[in-house]
Amino acid sequence: MTTASCFAAHASDSPLVPHQVTRRAPGANDVHIDIEFCGVCHTDIHYAHNDWGRTVYPIVPGHEIVGTVRALGSSVKDLHIGQRVAVGCFVDSCHHCSSCDNDMEQYCLSGFTPTYNGSSADEGGVTYGGYSKNIVVDRHFVLKVPENLDPAGAAPLLCAGITTYSPLKHWGVKAGMTVGVIGLGGLGHMGIKFARAMGARTVMITNSAHKAADAKRLGADDVLLFTDQAAVAKQAGQFDFLLNTIPSPHDVTSYMNLLKIDGTMCIVGSIGPTSELNSRPLIFGRRSIAGSLVGGIKETQEMLDFCGQHQIVSDIEIIKMQDINHAYERMQASDVKYRFVIDIGQSLS
Ligand SMILES: NC(=O)c1ccc[n+]([C@@H]2O[C@H](COP(=O)([O-])OP(=O)(O)OC[C@H]3O[C@@H](n4cnc5c(N)ncnc54)[C@H](OP(=O)(O)O)[C@@H]3O)[C@@H](O)[C@H]2O)c1
Ligand SMILES: [Zn+2]
Ligand SMILES: [Zn+2]
Repeated sequence: MTTASCFAAHASDSPLVPHQVTRRAPGANDVHIDIEFCGVCHTDIHYAHNDWGRTVYPIVPGHEIVGTVRALGSSVKDLHIGQRVAVGCFVDSCHHCSSCDNDMEQYCLSGFTPTYNGSSADEGGVTYGGYSKNIVVDRHFVLKVPENLDPAGAAPLLCAGITTYSPLKHWGVKAGMTVGVIGLGGLGHMGIKFARAMGARTVMITNSAHKAADAKRLGADDVLLFTDQAAVAKQAGQFDFLLNTIPSPHDVTSYMNLLKIDGTMCIVGSIGPTSELNSRPLIFGRRSIAGSLVGGIKETQEMLDFCGQHQIVSDIEIIKMQDINHAYERMQASDVKYRFVIDIGQSLS
């Protein structure tokens, strides 16, 4: 076993503080990774604050992990020591259900094991995430990072990246389509980059007028300020697909008239129960509301390779591990451009 310095929250109303966890000795199929960078996802905040009532304390968040291979189990032949690798939102699944058989471990019928706050056979009984110096993960759940990508900018690809890439691919986004990305945060800014790279006309739909220039710099062809109801009315029926990344309950129906006939709005924000659904914009347009959860391991590798080919990384602000509590406050105030990434290697001893 190895000790790993980390930052953990010990209660829903406590800040994250220095802590230590142990990592198992690598088994035959394991990869021991020295973590260099870890992105900060809004889901980390939901868990640290126990928003969903299922946090096991102490919690060590972090599921946008990039690092280098420190050691390999005897059966791992396709990675080498020092290689740059990554870990995303989950570190295990049943490996044999119909979802796992079809490379959709995120929908494992037995439930996947999340990178943090999941039950584990390791000491402590819980998985501990990437706000830590090192991690041991089964090879199947370890990704290869293209060498031409900046490792810090690549870290958010492991959640914000795949969570936006997967639905855009699933709903067949391509040239000739108009896609609206709702909410310009960590997920939203990746949604713009991917929709644009897939060839679609891409519109940023935001409540923050001051983000318009940035949205265009990130690749949006247009910006729709959702608080401007006259502008919204003009765009009715224009969109093939909407990717909704808003992280809190809101009136989802209010976006549906933007869709063309047969259009789909995919919700990826963890909004839980929301206000009453109005069926009229669904019926009068055969429109759909859907959801999507991250992406499987095969698709995550495909997304990383796509990023390597198209030179796509996240726009990030690098922080020290010690700055994490302030970063959480800023994210809750929508004050982040557009993902915080913790420099674990340099700031966590
Ligand atoms: N489905 C999945 O697999 C998956 C994976 C990762 C994360 N998530 C979830 O996705 C959500 C977004 O995560 P994130 O990391 O992108 O968050 P984030 O960086 O905080 O960005 C969210 C953006 O949504 C907009 N927004 C925030 N509060 C709003 C409100 N009350 N009403 C309307 N718009 C609001 C803001 O954009 P504007 O200023 O442009 O309006 C904000 O920048 C979270 O709930 C997270 O848990 C889901
Ligand atoms: Zn995440
Ligand atoms: Zn399974």
